[in-house]
Order: sequence, then C-alpha cells, then structure tokens
Amino acid sequence: MNDLSLPIYLDYNASTPTDPKVLEEMIPYFSSKFGNPSSIDHYFGSEAQKGVALARERLASLLGCNPSEIIFTSGASEADNLAIIGCAKANPEKRKIITSAIEHKAVLRSVEYLSKNGYESTILPVDTYGLVSPDDLRDAIDENTLLVSIMMANNEIGTIQPIVKLATIAHEFGAFFHTDAAQGVGYLNVDLTQNDIDLLSLSGHKMYGPKGIGALVIRRRSPRVKIEPLIYGGGHERGIRSGTLNVPGIVGLGKASEISKTLLSTEKKRLESLRNHFFSSLKSSLDEIIINGHSKKRLPHNLNLCIPGVRNKALQYSLREELAFSTGSACETGNVQSSHVLSALGLDE
Ligand SMILES: Cc1ncc(COP(=O)(O)O)c(C=O)c1O
Repeated sequence: MNDLSLPIYLDYNASTPTDPKVLEEMIPYFSSKFGNPSSIDHYFGSEAQKGVALARERLASLLGCNPSEIIFTSGASEADNLAIIGCAKANPEKRKIITSAIEHKAVLRSVEYLSKNGYESTILPVDTYGLVSPDDLRDAIDENTLLVSIMMANNEIGTIQPIVKLATIAHEFGAFFHTDAAQGVGYLNVDLTQNDIDLLSLSGHKMYGPKGIGALVIRRRSPRVKIEPLIYGGGHERGIRSGTLNVPGIVGLGKASEISKTLLSTEKKRLESLRNHFFSSLKSSLDEIIINGHSKKRLPHNLNLCIPGVRNKALQYSLREELAFSTGSACETGNVQSSHVLSALGLDE
C-alpha cells in the first residue's frame, strides 16, 4: 500500500491487503502444486495435502487448539452460519438462541432464520460503549438455551466483549458458546485452552490473508458440540463441510496465522500508537469530535468517529481522492441505511 498516487487506506476492518509473504506462499498452489488434496495417492495430491496440513497446524498454533478441530470454510460468514444453524440442526432438543444487537449480519440473519423456523431468540442490548452485560446474559439464559453467540470484537466500533465471562455463564446453564472472532484473530491474544469457547469463526482477509477463506473451530470439549453440515458432498473436513478445499486460500491463511503469531504483541502496540496519534491530531483541530465505542476495550486498529453537524457520506465523498474510510459495515453490500451497531449504542442517524 505504498503507492502515493492512491488515497490513504483506512478501512482495515473491512479488508486487509494480502501480505506479500502470504501471496508468495500461495502462488505454487495455483501452478506446480495445483493437485486436489484428497488425491493423496499421487505426488500432486500429496503436495497439496501437505500444504493444507501445515496451514492447519499454523492456525491451530495461533489459536491454542488442535489442528483437527479446524474446519476450513469460505469465510467467516459461512462459519457463522455453520456454527449457528448447524448447531441447531444437530441438537434439536433445545430451542433457544441468544445473541447481541451488534453482531455481524451473518450471525443476526442466521438467528433470524432459526426464529422463523420455530426457535426462540433473544437479542441482548449493549451499553453506550457497545458492551454486552454478563448480568443481561444471566437474566436471559435458561436450561432450554442451546447456544449463545457473541462476537469477540465489533467490526465497526472495535469494542472487545467480555468473552471469557460470557462463555462461562453459557456453560453454567449447559449452553454452547460461539464467538465470531473475525475481527479479533490476529489482533488479540486468543488462547482456546484458557476459556469456554466451543465454536469460533474467523476470516482470512481480516488478518492479511486472502479473501474467500475462513474457518470454524469446533472445540472437542465435554460435552462435545455436534454440528450438522450445511453443504453435503464428498465428506471433506470430517464430513462437516464438503467441497474440494481451497488450497491456495488455506495455505495463505496458514501463513498469515504464522506471521500474526510472531508479530501480535509488537503490532498491537504499533497500531494502537498510530491510532491514538491520529485521533489526538484530529481532536486538536476538531474539538467537538466524539469517539464511538470504548476508549480502552477496543481493537488496536479501530477508530469510529462522529463529527457533529457533518454528514458522514458527504465527508466520505469530499475526501475520496485522499482517504478511503467507511461509514458503516462493508459486509452489507450496497446498504445505505444507518448502522445497526451505532443505533444499538443509542445514537441517532
Ligand atoms: C465480525 C465479522 N464477521 C463476519 C464477517 C464476514 O466475513 P467474510 O467476509 O469472511 O465472510 C465480517 C466481515 O466481513 C466481520 O467483520
């Protein structure tokens, strides 16, 4: 991103560029190592399979899980659908799902689908910083709750949820816990040996990997969460997600995971200081500027601002030659309505 003729890119929550080292590792899997990783009886298949196995190990090492607990998907949207709808399909005895008002639409629409099909759903509110209250979860949860799905960190305002506490509460009531960690993995310490998370979704293109690849981690805990597939076919990924594996994408995600693991703590500090410097520079000339979200419990690379009296779209348009920033989630294609996340904080249009 060093081409000075281009606008400055400030939209890393929407997508990150693919790290050149990631791209370099991916390229052979489009050419000399193009084989199908299921064709392990010959050289080409087994080369592809080795690439997938290494990527699985690298991702598992970043997350503190077992490589066999990883199911590769097309991204976090598919992983969220698989976690929520797949869990409901496999465990029909319990009929209640709890989530929060500021989740990504991949979670909210999956829960909505289940509500239309006879499930009870509870959407927890958030406070003015975007935090879910563990007490609200405790009030809403009961023995009929199958799954609690709360994101690790928000894609618009960067608020980091008290995931460890929320997952513990879910388990106290015998419910499974899913977190959409698409914005957290690669930026926050995620150690699955240290919490009660059963299901975790992530996405390659939020962490300097390629687009079109992600994963659902299905922890092997007791009791073990069962997941019914959404895609049937050749039984890939332990029968949970059929379809020939996206080998270059998986290899890229694996390399991005390896890089994240080595750089995590230095990157966190670097990004935080750049973000803080940017904010204080703006604040020094625009005193009335307001920060949306939490000042501390926040992703290191996220800033969400309100400039009273300035229309976001007008600002975006007038600065388009110089700056690329977003006024809401890029994950809602072409949606020009106001952000459901900012509305949930109590902000008006
Ligand atoms: C929190 C969150 N969940 C899910 C997604 C969807 O990820 P993907 O683009 O990999 O489907 C995104 C962003 O796109 C996101 O920010």
